[in-house]
Amino acid sequence: MSRSKAEKVLLPEVAASFEPPNRALEVLTGLCRMRIHRGAPLDRPQAVADFIADAEAVLTLLANPVTDQVLAACPRLQIVANCAVGFDNIDLEAARRRGLWVTNTPDVLTEATADLTWALVLAVTRRVVVADAFLRAGHFKGWSLDLLLGSGLQGKTLGIVGFGRIGRAVARRALAFGVGVVFADRTEIGGADLGFRQMPLDDLVACSDIVSIHCPLNDDTRYLFDGERLSKMRRGAFLINTARGPLVHEEALVRALEDGRLAGVGLDVYEEEPLVNPGLMARDDVVLLPHIGSATVETRTMMAVRAAENIAAVLGGVAPPNPVVAKA
Ligand code: NAP
Ligand code: GLV
Repeated sequence: MSRSKAEKVLLPEVAASFEPPNRALEVLTGLCRMRIHRGAPLDRPQAVADFIADAEAVLTLLANPVTDQVLAACPRLQIVANCAVGFDNIDLEAARRRGLWVTNTPDVLTEATADLTWALVLAVTRRVVVADAFLRAGHFKGWSLDLLLGSGLQGKTLGIVGFGRIGRAVARRALAFGVGVVFADRTEIGGADLGFRQMPLDDLVACSDIVSIHCPLNDDTRYLFDGERLSKMRRGAFLINTARGPLVHEEALVRALEDGRLAGVGLDVYEEEPLVNPGLMARDDVVLLPHIGSATVETRTMMAVRAAENIAAVLGGVAPPNPVVAKA
């Protein structure tokens, strides 16, 4: 075997569960052998395990369940590099136990996701999607005083649940719309300098005209918005969720819309993604997006580059820039 061929064989293997953009591939060039999954997302643990097999590193998407069973079947794995800021698709405890790195892609997607959150706020409160469908159906016969009236934003209160990177970026945008901001977080944090006031979650839902969810999904936050909490929201309020679907109990959400508790809902994420509750699909006071919070060319490229940089660091024997679980 020639020397370069032998070196190639010795290079560690990286399994990418999706086709990374060129800029991300460039980060890994010369450091590893790449194996790329093309086609439908690997959404079952066995399929993920079969794909990773003997790879040293895996580049994952949030559709890929990385369970204990998967990690047990992949003995050479050193790092799971999620191409997302959320990491609820990964069993962190199992990774910790097995001494693996888990990394994510914070910061680079904050602004794009905050922009999309406001796109939902505006679409829902101003009935943008309904109005577009109305026009396309040929119903627009000219301006009238009461055509497709929505709900104004100025002077209203936006309640932000989870005042982290994205929650704060959403709050900053509220200033430009003349919307007041209150927030709830599990930790005591500042924000008063910009006029943002922290309060307990139940107080927040009781005083907000719009509630926007930005906390992570974990055992403590699953169904944070169940029937009881939804019933504490202001009558006629709006709910926006660009965080994770299971933070909201979807059946209860449909009931809150049916009984008029909520005036509208904007969702980018779903309890059983990619399935959507038929009760939501049927309503025109709901705007439904297919999990595109960070979906700009620039942001998705930066996310993949960031994920690749995390892998490159670990393969190079140094700590990655974005650890969620640090190798023991
Ligand atoms: P982050 O900076 O970690 O912010 C999350 C905030 O939520 C933190 O301040 C956290 O507090 C707080 N929190 C945790 N548990 C809470 C609870 N029970 N009640 C209230 N607040 C709680 O994360 P991020 O970068 O803003 O991202 C937030 C989430 O958005 C991600 O986890 C992901 O699921 C979602 N996301 C979705 C999209 C999309 O495409 N739709 C895109 C990006 C992100 P601590 O700091 O004390 O933990
Ligand atoms: C997207 O949902 C992310 O967590 O980055």
